[in-house]
Amino acid sequence: MKRLGVWLLLVGLLLSGCGQTPTTGPALYARHCGACHGGDLAGNVGPALGAGSEAAAESDASYRAAVREGVGDMPATARLSDEQLDKIIAYLREAQG
Ligand code: HEC
Repeated sequence: MKRLGVWLLLVGLLLSGCGQTPTTGPALYARHCGACHGGDLAGNVGPALGAGSEAAAESDASYRAAVREGVGDMPATARLSDEQLDKIIAYLREAQG
């Protein structure tokens, strides 16, 4: 019986860890924004989003508009739910200080 419990625990861990979409702000950012804005928020093809950047001075509303509608060379990211986008913005605000 004890063994069965251990196996169920392992299977549960595997199921919960595999193929899941990221749920935290940093993980969502890395998946959806990091390639263009830099893993360290310092920018790449897209502008820097970290502390002291021009983007740091912009409102949450303009962040949402950029992600939902796209801006310039930035394509819209329609796959994100409002909740996921809120988490990304919260992560960016925290990083911006
Ligand atoms: C394919 C590359 C790409 C991806 C992916 C991308 N961006 Fe951008 N982003 C850009 C570029 C390029 C700009 C500059 C657009 C311009 O002003 O011409 C930009 C601009 C911005 C701006 C400034 C908007 C403004 O009004 O000037 C914000 C904020 C932003 N991105 C946030 C995000 C967030 C959050 C994500 C992830 C959900 C994301 N971006 C994903 C390329 C990207």
